[in-house]
Amino acid sequence: NNYCVIMSGGIGSRFWPFSREARPKQFLDFFGTGRSLLQMTVDRFKKILPLENIYIVTNNEYAQMVMDELPELKQNQVLLEPMRRNTAPCIAFASYHINSFNPDANIVVAPSDHLILKEDEFLAIIQKAFTFVEKHNTLLTLGIRPSRPETGYGYIQMSEEQLDGITKVKVFTEKPNLELAKVFYESGEFLWNSGIFIWNNRTILDAFHRYLPEITNRFDLGLGAFGTDKEKAFIDENFPFCPNISIDYGVMEKAANVYVQAADFGWSDLGTWGSLYEISDKDENANATLIAETLFFDSSENVVTLPAGKLAVLQGLNGYIVAEADGVLLICKKEEEQRIKQFVADVKLKY
Ligand code: GDD
Ligand code: MG
Repeated sequence: NNYCVIMSGGIGSRFWPFSREARPKQFLDFFGTGRSLLQMTVDRFKKILPLENIYIVTNNEYAQMVMDELPELKQNQVLLEPMRRNTAPCIAFASYHINSFNPDANIVVAPSDHLILKEDEFLAIIQKAFTFVEKHNTLLTLGIRPSRPETGYGYIQMSEEQLDGITKVKVFTEKPNLELAKVFYESGEFLWNSGIFIWNNRTILDAFHRYLPEITNRFDLGLGAFGTDKEKAFIDENFPFCPNISIDYGVMEKAANVYVQAADFGWSDLGTWGSLYEISDKDENANATLIAETLFFDSSENVVTLPAGKLAVLQGLNGYIVAEADGVLLICKKEEEQRIKQFVADVKLKY
C-alpha cells in the first residue's frame, strides 16, 4: 500500500551554470559514479518499495531523459506536465492519479536532486513514517537540524506535543529572509524542512481541497479521466490553469495537522553551491575544488569547479564560487548565491 512520487521537473537554477534548463541538476552525475541524482533516488526507494509503486512527475520537456535514465519503469509511471507550475500542482497530479486506483495509498513525496549519505537510516525512517501516516491523518515531513541560517529552506518550529513519538509542528515558514533565518537558527527550536513528505492520499487530497481549491475545482471535473487514457489530454488542457505555487507555501504553511520527524541521514539538498561546499572535502584553508584542479594563494573558503582538465590559479580570493560549465564562467560571492536565480533570468534576457 506504499507508494513513492519523485518530483523531477525543476530546473535547479541556483546551481547554474552547472545545471541548465536543458539538463537540470537531477539528471547530472554529480559524483562521477555513473548514476544521476534521479537514478540514485530511484535506486534508493527500490530497496523498500515494489518498482511498480514508484512514480516520476516531470515536465514534458524531460520525458525522454527520464525514460532513457530509467528504462526499468513503465511509461505510465512517468507523469508528464505540459508546463512548470511548481510542486503543489505536481503533487496534486500524482495524488489524483494514484487515487484513481488506490485512495488509501500511503505516499512518500521526494525530490529527485538530493544527496543521502546514510541510506539505511533514511530507509528506516521512511518505513517508520509510512506506519505513522497509515494510522494518522497527518502531513508528515522529515526535518534536519540546521547548521547555518540558510534562506533557501523551509523552517519548522517544533512544539512540545508528540504523537507516537513524532513531533507536532507549531509553525512552518518557507524561505524566511536572512534576519528571520538567523533568529530561527539561533533559537534552537527549528528544523529545516528536507522537502521529503509522507502522508496518506486521503489526507493530502483533503488538504488540497481546503487550501488550494483552484487546483481541486479543476481536477475534480476530470476525476474519471485520471488513471485512464484520457488523463494526458485532461492534464494538458487543465494544468495551465493551476496556480504556480510550491507545496510549502500552498499547503504546509497553512495546514494544522503537520508533524515532523527529526532525522539525520547525511542529507544535502545540493540546492546551492554553498550546500555542496559544506559536504565537500576542503584543504587547510577551507577551499574546495570539485572537478579539475586549483592552485590557491592567500585564498580561503572558496568553492571551485571547472571542466575536467582545466587548472585555475586563485590569489587573494575569499568566500567565492568560481564555476565554469558549457562556456559560461560564474564568479560570485558565496553568501550572495541566492541571487544566482536572478542572474540566470537576466542572462536569458540578454543572450
Ligand atoms: N514535476 C515537477 N514540476 N517537479 C518540480 C517542479 C515542477 O514544476 N518544480 C520543482 N520540482 C522538483 C525539483 O526538481 C526538486 O526535486 C523538488 O521538486 C523541489 O523543488 P525545488 O525547486 O528544489 O524546491 P526548493 O529547494 O526551493 O525548496 C524545497 O526544498 C527544500 C529542501 O531542499 C522546499 O520544500 C523547502 O521547504 C525545503 O527546505
Ligand atoms: Mg531544491
